[in-house]
Order: sequence, then structure tokens, then C-alpha cells
Amino acid sequence: MSAGDGIVTSAEALSGQLTEWRRHLHEHPELSFQEHETTDFLERTLRGFGVDPVRKTETGLWFDIEGPRSGRTVLVRADIDALPIEEEADVPYRSGRPGVMHACGHDGHTAIALGVTKLLLERRGEIAGRVRVLFQPAEEKLPGGAPMMIRAGVLEGVDEAIGLHLMPMRLWAPGGVFPVGRAALIDGPAMAAAEEFRIRIRGVGGHGAAPHTAVDAIACATQVVNALQHIVSRQVDPLQPAVVTVGTFHAGYNFNVIAPQAELTGTVRAFDESVRDRMEESLRRIVRQTADAFGATADIEYIRGYPPLVNAAEQAEVVRGVIRDLYGTDALEAAVPMMGAEDFAYILQERPGAFLWLGCGSEELKAAYANHHPKFAIDERALPIGAAVLTAAALRLLER
Ligand code: NI
Repeated sequence: MSAGDGIVTSAEALSGQLTEWRRHLHEHPELSFQEHETTDFLERTLRGFGVDPVRKTETGLWFDIEGPRSGRTVLVRADIDALPIEEEADVPYRSGRPGVMHACGHDGHTAIALGVTKLLLERRGEIAGRVRVLFQPAEEKLPGGAPMMIRAGVLEGVDEAIGLHLMPMRLWAPGGVFPVGRAALIDGPAMAAAEEFRIRIRGVGGHGAAPHTAVDAIACATQVVNALQHIVSRQVDPLQPAVVTVGTFHAGYNFNVIAPQAELTGTVRAFDESVRDRMEESLRRIVRQTADAFGATADIEYIRGYPPLVNAAEQAEVVRGVIRDLYGTDALEAAVPMMGAEDFAYILQERPGAFLWLGCGSEELKAAYANHHPKFAIDERALPIGAAVLTAAALRLLER
């Protein structure tokens, strides 16, 4: 017998319960840092299992399940928050809260982690150490719930960490429905860092016929937009993925008035920490000195978002081994990194671990919209799969 025997069967037996939990959470979504009812629900449910959770933050909680033998500690993390989106999915358990929706599948992640808890409690004797289960708030909103939980001490005594994300559609090439029964987990950088910037160019307003008496903020800001595209093309290693996007440009009052001010906002994405630093430096220098060259001034607000998510090869291989053993080699799909961001990255900066993408798409069940879409839906048959994989992976990481 090895850790994991019978887990698929036990997880399948929990299907009805997993679906019920997930639908309850789906009907009662809460925004980031406001997951009070969700946390209360989790606390009640866990106490029903005989678990005594640690609640050190306003929302979110964690607890340990100890095995009979002492050993290392593996963290299993689920995020619990919803998004400010009006649900358009036509399901009986539709969001009961206007403008709030579990459109990223975190209701599923939460149900899966409850399932992991149940499965581990049934197998306490097989735990060669300790599993800490974390229900983490606020994945969807900067500065993120992960750093808050780390400050609250969730990683104290933890050696390795695992987590997953449900995905009905492949967010990497070649795209398309990512069906139930499939998973993907790549080594190294898997998801990007995502920064946000806001630039205010201040010139001097004036009459459209008298440019010599003014400093044209629009003329200056257009040079800034063009120059920013040189960061990726001329200043970043061509073998490193990077993006600079200016998403908004607002300026001006009237056709015959020189605009005194222009405001740009945008995002910067990269995988490598040194590329990240370099892009911020370049952006600041280009904006400042371009403004200066035109006699304008610039205010720059540059907000570092989540860091790149980097999987550790060793732990990733253990998780892939579990998927192969439980669901066959075909269950694993090749994937490439994606430019989306995820705050589990902070946990993986502190501890080695792995984050897998779990297929939950189905054309038939209309679960064929990408994460964050107002019609986002999942094929709930992915729930027992997620619970089985995370449970077996935690056991196996402790065993080796
Ligand atoms: Ni998400």
C-alpha cells in the first residue's frame, strides 16, 4: 500500500457533498477582504468535522492535520473570494448578491479544500508529518490576501506548498476548452508579474493658435506612449517575455485649446524579477526625461503587483506523478506559461511548491467561458478530481 490508495474512490464518494458546498458558496459570493460569511461558513463546517481552525485575520483561516509520525509540513492552499461581476450564467444556484460573482472558480477551490480536509481526516494514519490547510482571502485584489496570511504566520513551520486553479478554458496556446479530467503543471515561471502604472503629464494650457505660449501635454504624452514601446523592443532581453500596454489616454478640453494635462494608465507584465526591476527603471526614466525634454513635468505612480509565480521542479514532479498514477498519463497536458497573475506566487517565493491548472470545461454544460467572464461556469466533476489530487500530493510530498 502506498499513500493515495483508494483516494479516487473516496473523493468520488464525496462528489455530492463537494457540489453542495460549492453551490452554497456560489450563491453567497463575497468580495476580496470581505469574506466574513464565507469564513463563518468554513468555521462551522470545519468544527462539524472536529477541526479547530486558527483565525488570525478578519477573513480566512487555517488549521493543521497531524499524522501519527512527526515529519515535515505541507501547506494546501485555497482562495475564497469572488469578483465584482454581475453573473450572467443561467444556473439555479446563481449569485444572490447583485454585482458579485464567483467568476474565477474560487468557490470550487474552497469546496475542494474542504474535500481535502475530509479525505485527510479519514487517512490521518497515513500522514507522515503534518498538513496545513489554508483558506486564503482576497486573491483578486491588490495587495492580495497571501502576503497578509504570511504576515499572520501561516508559513511558520511549513516546508512546501501546493495549490490549484480551476480553468474551463486553456489560457495558454492553443486555447480552447480545457476539459474535466485534464491538468497541466509546468516547471519554473508559470504566471507573470503584473504591475499597474498611472502617469500624469503636466504642461501649460493655452490657445491652440499660440503653441509658443504653452506646453502641449498631448504632444508630450504621445511621445511618452511611443517611447514606452521601446522598453520591450530595445531594452529587454528578446528571450524574456515582457509586455507594456498603455490602456487609457485622457487629455484635452476643446479643439482649439492646448491641453495642460494628460493622463495615461497601463500595465507591465514580465516573468523574471530582474526584467521587472529593469522595466520599472526604464519606464520611470523615459517618462521623466521625455517630459523634461518638452518642458513638461510628470508624476508617476507605479504599483508592483503580484510577483511571477514560479513552480519548483521537484515538487511539480511529485504532483505530476500523483496525477499520472491516479488518472493516467493522458490526464497531464503540456502547457506554456501565461501572462495572468496569481498571489499564490508570494507563498512560492517563500517555500518550494507547485500550482496546477485543473480542467473543468465542458461545451455541453456551457462551461466554456474563460475565468472572469460573467457566464463563467464549471463542470463540477472536476471537484473530486481536485480533492483527490491535492490530498494524494500532500501525502506523497510528506512520504518522500
Ligand atoms: Ni482566480
